[in-house]
Amino acid sequence: MKSGRGGPFFGFEIMKTIDKLRQLCPTISVGVLTADLMNLEDELNLLEGTGVEILHFDVMDGCFTPMMTVGPPYVKGIRTKLLKDVHLMVTEPLEKVAAYVAAGADIITVHAESELHIHRVFQALGSMENVNDPERGLVRGVALNPGTPLSVIEPVLDEVEMITLVAINPGWGGQKLIPATFDRLHQVKELVAASGRQILTCIDGGVTRANIGEIAAHGPDLVVTGSAVFDGKAPTENGRFMLEAFRSRD
Ligand code: DX5
Ligand code: ZN
Repeated sequence: MKSGRGGPFFGFEIMKTIDKLRQLCPTISVGVLTADLMNLEDELNLLEGTGVEILHFDVMDGCFTPMMTVGPPYVKGIRTKLLKDVHLMVTEPLEKVAAYVAAGADIITVHAESELHIHRVFQALGSMENVNDPERGLVRGVALNPGTPLSVIEPVLDEVEMITLVAINPGWGGQKLIPATFDRLHQVKELVAASGRQILTCIDGGVTRANIGEIAAHGPDLVVTGSAVFDGKAPTENGRFMLEAFRSRD
């Protein structure tokens, strides 16, 4: 196994979360909220058997988004070996991020539109430890709604490891991907290249069995997919299919 930059720890090299994520890419993060709540443990066990390594939590507060979903106790309560990828769609995240980090987030994504002092949120996250392993660190993501100009990410490029383009208007799963997302992705990749930093790109929302090949061809490092995997029928087959389809882009 490739060793990380974390330094020796009880004789092992600790791999940083960001290095682990880079090693996994291109890969998929699967939204847990579309899983069958009455069979959640079984659903997660099935997912863990597919090769998927990231679990996506869509946190919505009923203010930033019309829908309200889950909070820190839910993120903490899910026992899984998958990386916890927490997508915060909430107002005033500055005062809330610490609770999600304490709940076990490995990756934490905050919307640029959700906070007046978004730069301060990423600075704050930069000084927090990953509670799963203090040596591993957190991955910080900035997310943008489809109607938000890309220029807002430029001032935070030094403070994030991932940029997520939400390809639907956030609020619920099962919507159709907005095609302008592809052009936005290419513009984001240019911004990242110009920054000289190795920032991952991610598309979230509207990713289906039918369009994952087309999305993959545009070259995001990650995609988030919910209802295409947890469709109430075949999560194992779906998870394997989506992972394989996304990775066979080259
Ligand atoms: C949207 C969320 C997405 C979405 C994904 O508000 O950020 O993660 O629920 O669900 P699907 O894959 O069904 O579009
Ligand atoms: Zn999401």
